Amino acid sequence: MKLWGGRFEKETEEFVHAFSSSLSFDHRLVPYDIAVSQAHALALQECGVLSRDEAESITTALREIGDEIEGGDLDLGGDEDIHTTVERKLVERLGDTGAKLRAARSRNDQVAADLRLFLKDACKVMERHLLVLMRTILEQASMHLDTLMPGFTHLQPAQPVLLAHHLLAYFEMFRRDLERMEEARRLQDRCPLGSGALAGVTFSLERESIAERLGFSAVTANSMDAVSDRDFAADFLYACCMAAVHLSRLAEEIVLWSTPYFAFVELDEAYTTGSSIMPQKANPDVAELVRGKTGRIFGHLVALFTMLKGLPLTYNRDLQEDKEGIFDTCDQLASMLEVMARSLAAARFNVVRMKEAAEEGHANATDLADYLVRKGLPFLQAHDSAGRLVRHCLDRGIGLEELPLQDYRDVQPMVDEDVFECLVLEACVAARDLPGGTAPGRVERALGEAKDWLEAAFAARSRG
Ligand code: ARG
Repeated sequence: MKLWGGRFEKETEEFVHAFSSSLSFDHRLVPYDIAVSQAHALALQECGVLSRDEAESITTALREIGDEIEGGDLDLGGDEDIHTTVERKLVERLGDTGAKLRAARSRNDQVAADLRLFLKDACKVMERHLLVLMRTILEQASMHLDTLMPGFTHLQPAQPVLLAHHLLAYFEMFRRDLERMEEARRLQDRCPLGSGALAGVTFSLERESIAERLGFSAVTANSMDAVSDRDFAADFLYACCMAAVHLSRLAEEIVLWSTPYFAFVELDEAYTTGSSIMPQKANPDVAELVRGKTGRIFGHLVALFTMLKGLPLTYNRDLQEDKEGIFDTCDQLASMLEVMARSLAAARFNVVRMKEAAEEGHANATDLADYLVRKGLPFLQAHDSAGRLVRHCLDRGIGLEELPLQDYRDVQPMVDEDVFECLVLEACVAARDLPGGTAPGRVERALGEAKDWLEAAFAARSRG
């Protein structure tokens, strides 16, 4: 069936039909298309286009069609898109009554409504996955409140930190992703129905009540904007891109940390894969794929931006190209979040190796400089003296804590025995005792706050 054709003298070229059909992917919108059509039927009844009986038989038939398609009986036929398929099935069941539903709407406002509803649900799914991953991060952090490791800048040893502090950094990234996802969901929450093809419709639809029935909290303000706007899709993809960036950074660290050279983490075998030629291999393919799939998600955002940038108002068929990238992003990001949570939960951190690494690389040199500042030296001089002492250590292949007091005094006579106390890694970490710092008490408190926040976020979602 076609929803148009009266003015045409020729049949559509088969090839053109195949080229332009969206049915192979937009069938994912079925439950939303059904809900949107049911709300429209009620609105048509309210404004007198449909009798009560007609509206009732339409909503019932739509429910059956939805169940049928969801149940796997696709019979998608050769229709142009999912909106046509649903309507064809309606007309097959109800004849002229079904044919009345197209009044006062266009696929332009319909598809925008379907997609907004789809994305509101997709955001909720991502939020849930993010929360589960965040819980895993907190579980690992709880086990490593006293695990020392080198913190890095430029991937060079910088200052010692707690592993829990490092893990909580990822918690903060995913917390922001969750906020972005909620914000995207808030911006999707406007109902475009009643905008028609572009200018509004000639029947007095109760737009507010259609919106309310569909769970939207407001209606769009301008019909022309409403049918051509896909900002809400870009917002979703951007939120997904940021989450993917964070997953990819975590994945990169897992790849690096699981090499024998770092040996900071041991991956569970069930989350690694082997090589067809090298029998010794257990590769971090899961993390690599998370990192790899991130590029493809960025691609979907760039594709959407590029598709939108040259469109004159209002609806243009280019907009149909919004969907595949959105669907793929949903599928990929959901599985990336899930697999990351599972593999992180199963991973074991090598606390002995991490501590050893923290002892290498003179990561306590800043503490030495700070010690000299406390003895009265301006920081620039303190930095210079500490640098010279590091040089002595490098020449001898030892750590600052192994350098004899006399060598310290040769560089800075003010140095006392107590310098060795501040060079101990535990002391370095404990000294960073301010909000956001890596001191054990601060990290423990941050962990407690994160746990409370997470529980509240789970609870808010289960309340709906
Ligand atoms: N399949 C189209 C889309 O996804 C919706 C139909 C609008 N088509 C049209 N010719 N006005 O955007």
